Parts: sequence; structure tokens; C-alpha cells
Amino acid sequence: MNLNAPSQLAVLFVCLGNICRSPMAEGALRAAMERLGVDIMIDSAGTAAYHVGSPPDPRAIAAAKIGGVNIAGQFARQIEAADFHRFTHVVALDKANLEGIRSHQPRNGTAQIGLLLDWLPGYEGQGVADPYYGGEAEFAAAWSLITRATQALCRQLYPFAR
Ligand code: 4NP
Repeated sequence: MNLNAPSQLAVLFVCLGNICRSPMAEGALRAAMERLGVDIMIDSAGTAAYHVGSPPDPRAIAAAKIGGVNIAGQFARQIEAADFHRFTHVVALDKANLEGIRSHQPRNGTAQIGLLLDWLPGYEGQGVADPYYGGEAEFAAAWSLITRATQALCRQLYPFAR
């Protein structure tokens, strides 16, 4: 992802349903930014509307809780055109999500759009596997990878937060 010194950093994470991966990414980045004493706008959304209004999947809540992060208060929503103006960075959890994001992108949207794992050296171009049809191990693996990637994102975007 290309950095053009965003003036008011704001990050939106996007997966398919907004009940597993992007809520974990939202919680992980918020925790990382809080540790640095930085308060920026962070949110998550789905490309699909299946789960709008639902809290995160209990397995995602449990995986985050083991990592010391509470994501139980989140509610799913679908990405909307205004997100491409409100956020400086719209970050996809996998390549299919990236295509889904682009299908919602208005012509004049200003957000930089890219993959979460592009921020994690060695994982560029890859996606976080969807744990929805897996079990505890898949959710733990997703949490671990998301945490590493959001920490890398945090380190790189921190200079632009204010
Ligand atoms: P997420 O996982 O995109 O990481 O929230 C999924 C959640 C729901 C479904 C698929 C993936 N679903 O098909 O309902």
C-alpha cells in the first residue's frame, strides 16, 4: 500500500461477513494503537450483508479474548460508499474481499485500498484464510496472523497518527 501522508488517519477493515476476521483486526489494531497512546478511528465492515447487526462469531470473540482483547461489543455492518471518504485506509482481509471492496468503491473515493497482509513482510499478496467453516484452531491461527499484521501496520502508520 502506498502512503501519501494521510492527515487524519482512519482505518476500516473489511472481510465478507464482518463477524470473524475484520472484527478481530479492528480489535487487534485498536489494542496496538492504545498501547502507543494513539486514538484514531478504526472500524470494520463486510462486503456482504448476511450478518448485519450481529455481534462477532463467538469463536472470534473467544480467540481475541485469549489474546487479551475484548471484541464482544462490536456489531456487523456492510461497507458503504461514505466509507471511501471517511477512512484513509480500507484494508481487505483476503483477495476476494479486495474485489468486493472495489465493487462498492465510488469513483471519487479517496481511501487507499489494499490487503492487510501487504503490511506484513513475507506475506505480501496473501489473504487471511476464512475460519468460518473451521474450528478453534482456525480461529486461533487467524487471530495470530491478524495480530502480527496489525502490529506491523501500526508500526508503519503510527508516524501519521495525530
Ligand atoms: P468473515 O467470515 O468474512 O471473516 O466474517 C465469514 C462469516 C460468515 C460467512 C462467511 C465467512 N457466511 O458465509 O455466512
